[in-house]
Amino acid sequence: GRGVAMVTAVAARLAAHRRLLEETLAPFRLTREQLAEVQAQMREAMAKGLQGEASSLRMLPTYVRATPDGSGDMGSRGHSMCGAGASSSILELRVSSSWCVWPREVYPWPGVDVRGQGRLFDHIVDCIQKQGLSGQSLPLGFTFSFPCRQMGLDQGILLNWTKGFNASDCEGQDVVCLLREAIRRRQAVELNVVAIVNDTVGTMMSCGYEDPHCEVGLIVGTGTNACYMEELRNVASVDGDSGQMCINTEWGAFGDDGSLSMLSTRFDACVDQASINPGKQRFEKMISGMYLGEIVRHILLHLTSLGVLFRGQQTQRLQTRDIFKTKFLSEIESDSLALRQVRAILEDLGLPLTSDDALMVLEVCQAVSKRAAQLCGAGVAAVVEKIRENRGLEELTISVGVDGTLYKLHPHFSSLVAATVRELAPHCVVTFLQSEDGSGKGAALVTAVACRLAQTTRV
Ligand code: GLC
Repeated sequence: GRGVAMVTAVAARLAAHRRLLEETLAPFRLTREQLAEVQAQMREAMAKGLQGEASSLRMLPTYVRATPDGSGDMGSRGHSMCGAGASSSILELRVSSSWCVWPREVYPWPGVDVRGQGRLFDHIVDCIQKQGLSGQSLPLGFTFSFPCRQMGLDQGILLNWTKGFNASDCEGQDVVCLLREAIRRRQAVELNVVAIVNDTVGTMMSCGYEDPHCEVGLIVGTGTNACYMEELRNVASVDGDSGQMCINTEWGAFGDDGSLSMLSTRFDACVDQASINPGKQRFEKMISGMYLGEIVRHILLHLTSLGVLFRGQQTQRLQTRDIFKTKFLSEIESDSLALRQVRAILEDLGLPLTSDDALMVLEVCQAVSKRAAQLCGAGVAAVVEKIRENRGLEELTISVGVDGTLYKLHPHFSSLVAATVRELAPHCVVTFLQSEDGSGKGAALVTAVACRLAQTTRV
């Protein structure tokens, strides 16, 4: 009778919802072929970037070197010359999109008012001064998590800001000079800026201290990027044919020439358009913590408009930008959570859902983070395969130093990256090492070597 008809109607509606959900998520489910294609395109972009041809990968030389016999500048990147004693007298400064760290303290950016060029660096020096340093001249290593063109260890022309950060008048300037000028203006501390290091490089170095196989650095946090040891002979913009140099790929910009458009969904397009750098950092926008929550939010909005979620009722909350933090993805996807806990998390966000809704939100999160991890894995596969081919090895054993909150906190991200790398780079045995202190130790190591080099040249 009527009861049966109602049950059938409900079942039909659920089936329709499920179909719409699947259709929406289908473009996020990448096949092995698609991932292999990403890897191949990444390889091509790497080669072009190294040769100085037009490429979305900048492949920036970092001046962190290694020599074949392990005796040169960086040796096996610092093992012999930088004991704990050496690095403990070195100061590190880290600047990322939302904070500035001076040795161990984190200072969040106060906001727009420090964002003018002079003021930005004055603010950094103020952070340093808050630590009340004594008068002696201290060597300083500077971890700077943005793309810089370097001509040496202690120089870095900021090419452009990324990750939503912006400070006027800095692009095209040497940030080491800007920092030195600010130090001079403030006059209180005497600091000797001896090295500027990308966070990927700092991460590789800090893990390399314990594991000499660590020749790749990976960050998956607010942004994403990787660096690795390349043969100097392959680096067109740096003289010299023997030994290796660490290259900062700036892979976040991969696809900015349109090469990822086949994979880009309408939701990626929304996130890109709403960002402060539309058309830029397209790979990063599909992978890193700053954007995954926004991708999820746009999918949820779409599913609501289809009537699949929220009984079709748009809520104010869901229209709020950045309401869906990436940490929620990590929480929602945590295996130990029952669906009702997922509901509780979403209710806390002001999104009261039914159990069906909660299950669908979980599936959306899973699809988005899985694609991110797989794309990241395809990138790592491209890098390690390049290293293997460079060395003419049948099999390469290598370690990747990793840092970044998304990688470290998400319950499945790291294993999905590893699985993708195994699939796409079967001749590489890759170990992932999580960096412990962020990129600070690495910057200290580079700084110690830079100091030593400076002394050697002076004699
Ligand atoms: C962005 C920056 C890059 C940095 C990465 C991770 O992609 O451009 O320099 O390494 O974020 O923080």
